[in-house]
Amino acid sequence: MKTVLSGIQPSGKLTLGNYIGAMKNFVKLQNDYQCNFMVVDLHAITVPQEPEALREQSEAVAALFIAAGIDPNKANVYMQSHVPPHAELGWLLTTLTSMGELERMTQFKDKSAGKDSVGAGLFVYPALMAADILVYNADLVPVGEDQKQHLELARDLAGRFNHRFGDYFTIPEPYIPEVGARIMSLDDASKKMSKSNPNPGSYIALLDPPDVIRKKISRATTDSGKEIRYAPDEKPEISNLMSIYSQCSGMSLQEIQDKYEGQMYGGFKKDLGEVIVATLEPLQQKYDEIRKSGQIHDILAQGADKAMEKASRTVAEVKERMGFLPAK
Ligand code: AQP
Repeated sequence: MKTVLSGIQPSGKLTLGNYIGAMKNFVKLQNDYQCNFMVVDLHAITVPQEPEALREQSEAVAALFIAAGIDPNKANVYMQSHVPPHAELGWLLTTLTSMGELERMTQFKDKSAGKDSVGAGLFVYPALMAADILVYNADLVPVGEDQKQHLELARDLAGRFNHRFGDYFTIPEPYIPEVGARIMSLDDASKKMSKSNPNPGSYIALLDPPDVIRKKISRATTDSGKEIRYAPDEKPEISNLMSIYSQCSGMSLQEIQDKYEGQMYGGFKKDLGEVIVATLEPLQQKYDEIRKSGQIHDILAQGADKAMEKASRTVAEVKERMGFLPAK
């Protein structure tokens, strides 16, 4: 069975974008592949995090994985930092990575733009992401557009290692989900919906109460026209809202367009608010149950144990090939 690896950063409150673009697909993948779904806390600290908030968000993301339908008996769910071979292989691969390769990464350029001081972790993090993938010899990595360049680096590093130290790593392939959409920000449809956006009105958090969801959708930016029509270039805001509607309701974009023909934005937005509430309510109920039960700690411990078996074997093999003196 092929191995799949993916993760979400506990760098804020998970959004509807994370759900539609990542978690919904994770739930499907767990039936056909050996899946590893991590809370990538080591990645989250590439930008400053408050310790208390990081701890809370980490547990929240793990509980949301389960609440969204990931079954810990099918997929491995764990914290990246609970499996130290990630960091160790990350360092080993950093030494095989050139500065030029890292300097070309557009995500680094975006995230560091306009900042006086940028942590070195943000710069070298693509090597850690390569380690996350290669430590399990993962075959497939579900990636959005913005992560394709990082996956390309992981493929290059696997090839480079194999060339220098003998064939060992599988060259990972991108997994392009059958369905899924890039969900854009509610206040600016040129930017993706992002959990670290300082304006909470720009995103729907998965744990937003129903009234907050309704209010955020009613305030979402739209053009001054009237037509409810899917045309991302011409009408990016209404197209984004239609895309969310489609992903949450299962209706096609054409069906939505037909349903709202001749109607005003206000009515459409009101319905969209209800569609999102209906999607998130069961998830929120399950989330509350999981958090109250405290079972998430056992799930994470079990996931980390399983992950350690494979990851520690990989690091031992890599170190031997690179010429490290074995510990007695
Ligand atoms: N707006 C989005 N639409 C579709 N998919 C999205 N993803 C994130 N935002 C959207 C997908 O969620 C997964 C986890 O992402 P991440 O937490 O590792 O980092 P990210 O992609 O940088 O997500 P955020 O919310 O924008 O986080 P911050 O603000 O911390 O950088 C990925 O599979 C991603 O494609």
